[in-house]
Amino acid sequence: MYVNMGLIGYPLGHTFSPVLHTHFLDITGINGGYTCYEAESPSSIPYLLDMFRRYSFAGVNVTVPYKIEIMKYCDALDASAEKTGAVNTLRFVNGKITGYNTDVYGFGRMLETAGISTAGKNILLLGAGGAARAVIAYLAEFQPDKLTIANRTVAKAGFLASLCSFKAVSSDMDSVRGGIYDIIINSTSIGLKGEGFPAVGAASEALVDLQYKPAVTPFLAGYGSGPERINGFSMLVWQACRSFAIWTGTEPEPDIKKLSDIAYRS
Ligand code: ATR
Repeated sequence: MYVNMGLIGYPLGHTFSPVLHTHFLDITGINGGYTCYEAESPSSIPYLLDMFRRYSFAGVNVTVPYKIEIMKYCDALDASAEKTGAVNTLRFVNGKITGYNTDVYGFGRMLETAGISTAGKNILLLGAGGAARAVIAYLAEFQPDKLTIANRTVAKAGFLASLCSFKAVSSDMDSVRGGIYDIIINSTSIGLKGEGFPAVGAASEALVDLQYKPAVTPFLAGYGSGPERINGFSMLVWQACRSFAIWTGTEPEPDIKKLSDIAYRS
């Protein structure tokens, strides 16, 4: 059997997903391949889905900017996608599409591996876009004492805070600059274009960035010495592992050191 897998998004020039899934195929001994499909316009999505069905794909990942758009093409949503309100993994069975969200699992596994617990903590979440939703879905399970969601567009933070099943408030970015938190989590895309990211608030326990490049991301670089600092590389690996398991039924045991050497070389 050959397992066809892939990725839809735009742009995909810097994606690391093919390296991850090729590593998983290698260590599990499963025969297959992972290919990328750049969809510059959402109008090409129906065409791609039709092709995936016709070529018996097991499933594909979905990334920026289509994690919400893709939901309308799903015949069913797994609980992980329901609670997140976003889909990053599609599974095809008998022509039907089920949507999953493995970012929540990836985020949780990253924190657990680093020994960080969110339960009962005072947490600052920067950003209120798609990535913030996965963080909030995880926090609904391991509830903080208080969550502050700070975002450039405060109304989006307010909307996400209103969805939380635990104590959550919204803020603009400036008002939290002098705040002290146990954990600060960055889900914004600030810094991706090479701009600086001055520190926002202080953390006593951990600084967690969902971005992973460079290893010391712009957000982490904004802080001097201090608490534990982790970038989002292992979240990227773990969410991919869960997608691979959904498609193949086999959960790989990734060599994170080897993968990070590849990701950060040159
Ligand atoms: P993703 O799916 O990666 O979360 P997104 O939904 O586009 O991407 O969200 C990007 C987040 O980064 C948003 O919270 C965005 O703030 P707005 O909601 O105000 O757009 C935030 N962001 C991006 N660039 C920013 C900038 N230069 N300054 C402040 N916030 C920024």
